[in-house]
Amino acid sequence: MGFGFSIWAFLLLNLVCCSRGFTPVDQFYVNCGSSSDAVVGNITFIADKSAAKYLLTPQEILADSNLNSITRADDSPLFRTARIFNGPSKYTFPIRQSGRHWIRLHFYPFTYQNYDMKTASFSVFSQTTTLLSNFTPKGAVVREYSVNVEKGDLVIAFSPSSNSNAYVNAIEVASVPDELIADAAQLYSSSGQFTGLSAQSLQTVARLNMGGPFVSLVNDTLGRNWEPDGPYLKQPNLATSKSNIPAVQYPNGGASADTAPPTVYGTCTKMNSDGDPTSNFNVTWDIPVDPGFQYLIRLHFCDIVSASPTDSVFDVYIDTYIVYQDLELSTKLYGKLATAFYADFVTPVLDRPNVSVSIGPSPRSSYPDAFLNGLEVMKIRNSEDSLAGASIFPSFPKSKKNLGIIVGLSVGVPVALILVGILFCMHRRRKRQQLKLSKTWVPISVNGGASHTMGSKYSTGTTVSVGSNMSYRIPFVAVQDATNNFDESWVIGVGGFGKVYKGELHDGTKVAVKRGNPRSQQGLAEFRTEIEMLSQFRHRHLVSLIGYCDEKNEMILVYEYMENGTVKSHLYGSDLPSLGWKERLEICIGAARGLHYLHTGDAKAVIHRDVKSANILVDENLMAKVADFGLSKTGPELDQTHVSTAVKGSFGYLDPEYFRRQQLTEKSDVYSFGVVLFEVLCARPVIDPSLPREKVNLAEWAMKCQKKGQLDQIIDPNLVGKIKPDSLRKFGETAEKCLADYGVDRPSMGDVLWNLEYALQLQEAVIQNDPDENSTNAIGQLSPQVGEFNHVETTTSVAQFETSSVDDLSGVSMSRVFSQLVKSEGR
Ligand SMILES: *[C@@H]1O[C@H](CO)[C@@H](O)[C@H](O)[C@H]1NC(C)=O
Ligand SMILES: *[C@@H]1O[C@H](CO)[C@@H](O)[C@H](O)[C@H]1NC(C)=O
Ligand SMILES: *[C@@H]1O[C@H](CO)[C@@H](O)[C@H](O)[C@H]1NC(C)=O
Ligand SMILES: *[C@@H]1O[C@H](CO)[C@@H](O)[C@H](O)[C@H]1NC(C)=O
Repeated sequence: MGFGFSIWAFLLLNLVCCSRGFTPVDQFYVNCGSSSDAVVGNITFIADKSAAKYLLTPQEILADSNLNSITRADDSPLFRTARIFNGPSKYTFPIRQSGRHWIRLHFYPFTYQNYDMKTASFSVFSQTTTLLSNFTPKGAVVREYSVNVEKGDLVIAFSPSSNSNAYVNAIEVASVPDELIADAAQLYSSSGQFTGLSAQSLQTVARLNMGGPFVSLVNDTLGRNWEPDGPYLKQPNLATSKSNIPAVQYPNGGASADTAPPTVYGTCTKMNSDGDPTSNFNVTWDIPVDPGFQYLIRLHFCDIVSASPTDSVFDVYIDTYIVYQDLELSTKLYGKLATAFYADFVTPVLDRPNVSVSIGPSPRSSYPDAFLNGLEVMKIRNSEDSLAGASIFPSFPKSKKNLGIIVGLSVGVPVALILVGILFCMHRRRKRQQLKLSKTWVPISVNGGASHTMGSKYSTGTTVSVGSNMSYRIPFVAVQDATNNFDESWVIGVGGFGKVYKGELHDGTKVAVKRGNPRSQQGLAEFRTEIEMLSQFRHRHLVSLIGYCDEKNEMILVYEYMENGTVKSHLYGSDLPSLGWKERLEICIGAARGLHYLHTGDAKAVIHRDVKSANILVDENLMAKVADFGLSKTGPELDQTHVSTAVKGSFGYLDPEYFRRQQLTEKSDVYSFGVVLFEVLCARPVIDPSLPREKVNLAEWAMKCQKKGQLDQIIDPNLVGKIKPDSLRKFGETAEKCLADYGVDRPSMGDVLWNLEYALQLQEAVIQNDPDENSTNAIGQLSPQVGEFNHVETTTSVAQFETSSVDDLSGVSMSRVFSQLVKSEGR
């Protein structure tokens, strides 16, 4: 019966379609999860059971929200029901005619029994293309794709992420007239052409009706939706709109009603230049996109503005490129007014999260004016056959999913429009913040000097899938571009992993690009760890990952650029100027904060495992950041495999306990950090075979001197006489505790941080008491109490403070906390 009904629907649609001029040979509209058909506009979405023959799924789960739980705006009948997939599932639609086809996926999350679709994460594939990757729809979303398929079968596969389910509320598959997408388009940034478009898979990112209302599939011959352009206008006050739908004509050849309906061509957004012949500004639309892809941009024009065909002459830009100088529509349309015209352009691979289209006056025009009637932005499948979102700009883990949807927000139902309005603003703000962050934190990760890595086997048991971090992927061409094609003269470091190049992204962000040696098992595992760690952990004292590239067997990591390189390079072995004691303390404090955050800042404790002065970098303000997470592991509570892991890390910094027992804890990092503290104080390599035997190993030698109270005799000669004895004593004690034989006897990074802050206070208090300095004695008054400061008491207070807000703490100067504590202790 269901089958009979769909034939009937097909015939009816055929009739309707014939009157439109285009008959989709193939058309499947499925109202997933529903026991009845739903009619939307002129399209009948058939009941789920009528489409069951196309579906292969491990279990039949038909979800019906009770109507009441659907909120006001989500009035599409398609959203009321869904199909849930609790394992990989696929639809196979028989395709009768080769060529371009729409795939539209409708999502609306609700809770059904014990399936909470709001938290579902899944991927969707067609035979040729990854459509969505680890996607979590938030609210009503309709994703539209168009793919070129051969006669035979079109498979659409749903794959739930681990411990999750997939779902879909409705599916559309329908033939598209092949003429809709021509094979070639102008490259906007050069005089070249992009060819091969007709074979491409595309995703609609934006489809806008300039100066008019939402146009739904009811008024579109190809079942498309067109959103109003208002929310995308950069400066709405510069624009005005005009409408004359009945006047619209289509030329013989070129644009047709299938290109865009009269409701789109018959309205426009134009320069608000009325009455001011001196107007000279652009009207600009910003469209959010996923960086890392090329886009097809289609501009629709129809002169419903001018009184005479020769009146309109204007300029059109995409981003900063002029794509039409002195565009005179009349010459393209044989002098006819109100006639539809469109043009296609292809962008280069974008490294920014938006693309803009601007129109502005031409000096050749008698009166300044410019208009645009419609705009479509379509993402082109990348070299990995994926259309799934990618954003090379780091996003904070908690907001990542939101962004994905907003960025990719496509054509939607009216609900989606409301969302666009609200979310678009949020999105813009967030993107801006991110851009600002990646610029102000400017800066690098150089692993100077090769690591002396011990151990030969690498445990692959805990490797993570690079694929789960799609959002950081950068196309190879963009990396080539940024590094002047890996210009040897741009190399700023060489490490065990490979070479590090300085580079600059299109938007001017300076980056450090670490290019791995050809894939080795070990390199690949470390590459993945680094991506996984850096994309999860963001902190001002950890070097930020901007992106990575794993195309063509490459292992490339792109970091913020750190102007001043490694801490090691400032201590010895280079001719960089020597750092003062206060600067060194501040660097140690910054690094300690970064490590403290790793150990405590997230649900999982993370052990860095390769703490050394070559892995602590400094930016242009000498702010320290911890780098190189290639060896990191999550802490013992969660990772029971730590015992069997081969010993890794760098010689001279290795925790003896870890070495003996292969027991991995945060305290191993504390040990290594203790070695760094002595290195900073003494400014010599941790292993120096040229020295007499007892001095070769810095950790041993410094500990010997510290225990004998002779630390002052081995400090960096540049610091002699510049460190206040109290500060040195505190610093020495702290380093000594870090190097305790047994992990349990070592302080936590939080304690270390606290003690280093204290050492800094002691140094500064002295300077401020110095009669030569006529500053206030705010810190001087600390001294009496500070002398009796009891380590145990203070750590508890700090711990409380920090657990409540680790992130906040990192930004706050500890001296404020210090004085508060001192005051309360003084009572
Ligand atoms: C859309 O189509 C309907 C019916 O076909 C019509 O009543 C309506 O005016 C159209 N809307 C626009 C904006 O043209
Ligand atoms: C939808 O159907 C109505 C009547 O059935 C028809 O007049 C209209 O042209 C159709 N709309 C489109 C876009 O085909
Ligand atoms: C319009 O935008 C383009 C591209 O950004 C720019 O080159 C041009 O100067 C702008 N024109 C005006 C009048 O602002
Ligand atoms: C889009 O990018 C330009 C730089 O190319 C920037 O000035 C603008 O603020 C960006 N807009 C959004 C919405 O991110």
